[in-house]
Amino acid sequence: MIKKLREFLKQEKLDYLLINTTDEFLVEYNELSNCARYFVTGFSGSTGDVLLSKDKIYQFVDGRYHEQADKECDLKTVTVVKLQLGQTFLGELTEKISSGSSLGVVSKKISLNFYKNLKTKLSKKHCKIKTLNFDPVENFHILKASKGKNPVEQIDIAVAGISADEKFKKIAKKIKQQEVLVDTNLENIAYLTNCRQYSTPFSSTFKAKMAVYKDRAVIFSNEKFNTKIGEYFKILPLQEFDNAFKNVSKIIFTPATINHYDFNLIKSKAAEAEYDFIKEMKAIKNDAEIAHFKKNYQRTDKVVNKAFDLVCSSKNLTEKQLSDEVEKEFLKQGAKQLSFKTILAAGENSSVIHYSHPSDTVIINDGDFVLLDCGGHFEGGYSTDITRTFIKGEPTNLQKKVYTTVLKMFLNAYNYPVTNKTTGFTLDSVARKIHRQSGLKDFNFNHGLGHGVGINVHENPPTISCGAAGKRVLKKNMVFTIEPGLYKSGFGGVRLENSVFLTEINGKLKIESLSHVPFQEKAIDFTLLTEQEKNWLKQWNNT
Ligand code: GLY
Ligand code: MN
Ligand code: MN
Repeated sequence: MIKKLREFLKQEKLDYLLINTTDEFLVEYNELSNCARYFVTGFSGSTGDVLLSKDKIYQFVDGRYHEQADKECDLKTVTVVKLQLGQTFLGELTEKISSGSSLGVVSKKISLNFYKNLKTKLSKKHCKIKTLNFDPVENFHILKASKGKNPVEQIDIAVAGISADEKFKKIAKKIKQQEVLVDTNLENIAYLTNCRQYSTPFSSTFKAKMAVYKDRAVIFSNEKFNTKIGEYFKILPLQEFDNAFKNVSKIIFTPATINHYDFNLIKSKAAEAEYDFIKEMKAIKNDAEIAHFKKNYQRTDKVVNKAFDLVCSSKNLTEKQLSDEVEKEFLKQGAKQLSFKTILAAGENSSVIHYSHPSDTVIINDGDFVLLDCGGHFEGGYSTDITRTFIKGEPTNLQKKVYTTVLKMFLNAYNYPVTNKTTGFTLDSVARKIHRQSGLKDFNFNHGLGHGVGINVHENPPTISCGAAGKRVLKKNMVFTIEPGLYKSGFGGVRLENSVFLTEINGKLKIESLSHVPFQEKAIDFTLLTEQEKNWLKQWNNT
């Protein structure tokens, strides 16, 4: 494959090719069978693109995947570029491209925003970008997504809280006659239509593109619908999207989510949206959605508690057996499917932040940390996400120190006195400061403190991190995670993750947890906790 791709580079007079993880819908969880990058480097994480040249292969990965990429790639031929906190893929990619060279990109697999930013950066290095209307990996290997075997269904109004027609009316107010809002973001489409499908692993969205006019919304999709969406909605075949905009004068779009190819279809009439209306509406959950989230997390807590009991009561349990039990238990609790691949790591594997290939030979032994990060999609198609790290048997002093430090990071962020000025960045900084003060310098915290949760397990806003996206204020009824972790290769890691929402009690904002799984007291060094932290812990473990 690599040899053939290099021949392609030569034919096309290109110095580099960007090979993507995603598909034309720019999804986070693309199936490996449909993931071009996987066939080039063998890396199986959910994000991380590749830059190929005539003599180099760069596999870019963020902090969650540093260890995993080293394990999965052939390091003789692949250079793993490990993005550090504060570094961006765009910045490091540009760094690797020599001045005056040419880069091929797949037009359907990059967002317009990414394309524009890349172009600006590369033009400073006198580089050229050639956009390709096909993925060259497909010349040599057929990329396949599962065919939607389940019909698209609509969720109950008791879960959504508001009908698709009512949502449409709110959005239509922002659109003028002769204008159309084009939206190709699958979560936005699933949200607006109240429709879900469970055909692609870890996703409850359906493949579609959308055009919202003042008086109607058109959904372009080849999936089977077992429902009418609403009075204002019409469904047309996906292919019709390309020619759908002849009679409008202005096409409103969002550059972060439209792919470069689709943008080219509309660009003569395109006008950038002031902001992503649907995404902002989706981020603020209504009371029915919050009630549904609470119910889903009760069921998720049961799965995690069951897993903990199994760890304590079983001998010779393997990572894979436990991970399979977790999936079975989710289904028993009514989940339609998992919301991401279960991360189940024992012993030193727990330092691999997104360890998602549990082994059938690794046995959970006494003295091991067991890190379980899991979630499901229940009947509303919303995600759950929780992590607990347990110790099997007796912990060492160092294990207790690491666990307790992560717990302190969690408790202080969770109990932060939130105001209407508090951002995700603020909460992230609270946790990072505790890490710095702990003296655990050789343990890394190479990921953000958290992320918004919605139909997809990762949805922004909000973003709870030290990057630029973390600098927006948190708003009432946003659902997000707080998930500090500390990891050291060869030793293991601890992550404690709870999904929470921002509520208001007596006029004051307050973070409230959706999960209530207790922390493992045996793993805690109480001498490291302040009186306030002990009280917070007591309250937590008693709820
Ligand atoms: N389960 C992925 C995450 O915690 O973000
Ligand atoms: Mn998680
Ligand atoms: Mn998470």
